[in-house]
Amino acid sequence: MPNSGLNVTARPTKEATHPTDPASGVRIRSLGYADLTHVISIERRSFASPWSVGMFALEMSKPDTVSLAALEGSRIIGYLVLSRYDRAWHLMNIAVAPEHRRRGTASVLVNEALARIDEGAPVTLEVRPTNRSAIRLYASLGFRSYGLRRGYYPDNGEDALIMWKGDPEVAGVPAESFEELPAGI
Ligand SMILES: CC(C)(COP(=O)(O)OP(=O)(O)OC[C@H]1O[C@@H](n2cnc3c(N)ncnc32)[C@H](O)[C@@H]1OP(=O)(O)O)[C@@H](O)C(=O)NCCC(=O)NCCS
Repeated sequence: MPNSGLNVTARPTKEATHPTDPASGVRIRSLGYADLTHVISIERRSFASPWSVGMFALEMSKPDTVSLAALEGSRIIGYLVLSRYDRAWHLMNIAVAPEHRRRGTASVLVNEALARIDEGAPVTLEVRPTNRSAIRLYASLGFRSYGLRRGYYPDNGEDALIMWKGDPEVAGVPAESFEELPAGI
């Protein structure tokens, strides 16, 4: 089981625990629709093309979605949305409020989400190659770069870097489907 870094001895179910990470003091719980006002405020400060409330609500309504809030006290300081499509889990969204970054919150969110899905299940994500902080975060959590998805981002046509944790072939994605990464990525 991926080590969530939390004081959890058995695999929690989606509704189970609300543990507090001893290192960061951050508490993790499931995200609710009532949280979306706070989530949108962080989202708008984090992305050039933020998700709308409707996009969050749609993703959260799916049975195979893990959506988590990170709290300091009673205040939401970060969130994550992880959804399963076919045989792979996709990290759809993650952000931490700018004033709370670099304190391990995103790492706790990802590890807690991974602890809530099947052990070793392949997880993939897209990230802008210019988003070095996110790429470092994912690399520090065991994600590897596999290839580029050309022109993925509609706002500026930027390519997406595709990263996986676990074996993409287990999710039915053959290794040869990835084009070679350019130098420097
Ligand atoms: C990316 C993001 C979620 C990271 O959140 P965070 O809570 O600050 O991340 P953590 O504190 O858990 O960082 C873990 C590791 O990631 C790397 N990292 C995170 N932010 C970094 C930065 N600004 N510069 C360099 N490395 C960074 C470091 O290796 C860090 O470990 P360290 O602090 O011990 O060096 C946050 O910067 C954010 O919300 N960015 C805007 C939204 C976004 O880009 N989301 C990802 C979309 S793909």
